[in-house]
Amino acid sequence: MELLDWKNLPFGYMKTDYNIRCQFKNNEWGSLEVSSSEYLNVHIAATGLHYGQEVFEGLKAYRGRDGKIRLFRCRDNAQRMIDSGVYLQMAVPPVEMFEEAVVKAVKLNEHFVPPYESGATLYVRPLLFGSGAQVGVKPAKEYLFVVFVTPVGPYFKTGFKPVDVMITRDSDRAAPLGTGNIKVGGNYAASLSAAAEAQRLGYSTCLYLDAKEKKYIDECGPANFFGIKNNTYITPASHSILPSITNKSLMALAEDLGIKVERRPVEVTELETFEEAGECGTAAVITPVGKIFDPQNNRIYDYGSEAGPVSTRLYSLLRAIQYGDAEDTHGWVSFVE
Ligand code: PLP
Ligand code: COI
Repeated sequence: MELLDWKNLPFGYMKTDYNIRCQFKNNEWGSLEVSSSEYLNVHIAATGLHYGQEVFEGLKAYRGRDGKIRLFRCRDNAQRMIDSGVYLQMAVPPVEMFEEAVVKAVKLNEHFVPPYESGATLYVRPLLFGSGAQVGVKPAKEYLFVVFVTPVGPYFKTGFKPVDVMITRDSDRAAPLGTGNIKVGGNYAASLSAAAEAQRLGYSTCLYLDAKEKKYIDECGPANFFGIKNNTYITPASHSILPSITNKSLMALAEDLGIKVERRPVEVTELETFEEAGECGTAAVITPVGKIFDPQNNRIYDYGSEAGPVSTRLYSLLRAIQYGDAEDTHGWVSFVE
């Protein structure tokens, strides 16, 4: 393989050598199959195509200073895919099958795992969808579980430099009692026009408010939101927010560092009281937020052009654990051997 320009990789798709597939048919899962094709042969009436019976996950493999490849909280991704699929009435892969497929996909593409300190990682994308045919609106009887990998650079080109975001008031990514709390493709389809509008106006992404009252902060397009004030890490609680594994980890690390943690409804008006703000997620890691624009009153909340001290401490500790440079006291890391 040609040597990749690891330091300049975009967050995008690149062909790797192999992917893993597994079919659910006749009420049972088959065995994991290795494929070198980037394509699937899909039934024209598959429910994943017509009725959005589709869920996915995202996690990363990290190469440490010791050369070993680590996965971060893979089991939590497995459980979240189960939660997402169960809500959409799908057959779901057991946790062990999910873990085995992820490890296999990473192992088979080992030479695509970027070197330590390159700033790039191997992104792992597990995907599950209804592959069986239906025309009435009902769950499929057959499902396909796929895991592919692709080496990626930072989600936001700036990396650990602040990005500007725009509050979205004229569309919602998820309904109050809808699917915002699970990782279904439809949430992302629903977010595309607001994201395009934010980007057209020069913002990296949008910040969604609660769909019912537009009074509380929900989350960003591809990541959870947090604010910092008075040595406290504050992150919104809402049914419409995806329970981010990164955010859960940051809450635990904040406590380890003696930073207080509050997970509760956060009113838009509270934005003016934060000393720091950030987005967090597998792809975003921690991406500090520089400015938040509220189009309702043309207001700009400004958190500065550099990452704040608390965000920086949390970022450094999270990265150190993911790469094996700090002790994994919570038991979050597993190895691909
Ligand atoms: N929120 C949304 C809408 C996301 O797509 C993601 C990415 O998975 C996150 C938050 C962050 O979740 P995690 O930290 O589990 O990657
Ligand atoms: C992730 O952080 O893994 C995501 O899935 C976010 C986005 C790429 C959809």
